[in-house]
Amino acid sequence: GQKCNLAGQWKNDLGSEMTIDTVFKNGTFLGKYLTAVSSTNKTIVLSPLIGYQQLTDLPSFGFTVKWLFSNSITVFTGQCFLNTSGQRVLQTSWLLRSETQDPQNNWSQTRLGYNIFYPLKKRN
Ligand code: BTN
Repeated sequence: GQKCNLAGQWKNDLGSEMTIDTVFKNGTFLGKYLTAVSSTNKTIVLSPLIGYQQLTDLPSFGFTVKWLFSNSITVFTGQCFLNTSGQRVLQTSWLLRSETQDPQNNWSQTRLGYNIFYPLKKRN
């Protein structure tokens, strides 16, 4: 069938933007993430991501974002689909891990959510 390619620019339902620039032949990929929202009061900056995808037509994948403005880490997992018009869509789940100095606070440091990513169309 038709292949769903992860490479390119994406925007999710929160307004966050992601670019996947390089997908290597073994399925490793690299990119950058600009989140529209934050759990912190820090100024948001563009942050790197690294991931792995299966080498299938509608690949499952996972990637990690190392936030450069907070001490948190987010891992995403998902799958690339083609809608009835042949447009790509990424259906993902994520875990956001925050840091704490106190092990007693460990229980509260993981958030869970879902995001849908669509190909980004930049206006002129
Ligand atoms: C932080 O809050 O410490 C860093 C920013 C986290 C942004 C999260 S990651 C999951 C969700 N999806 C997004 O596009 N942004 C938020």
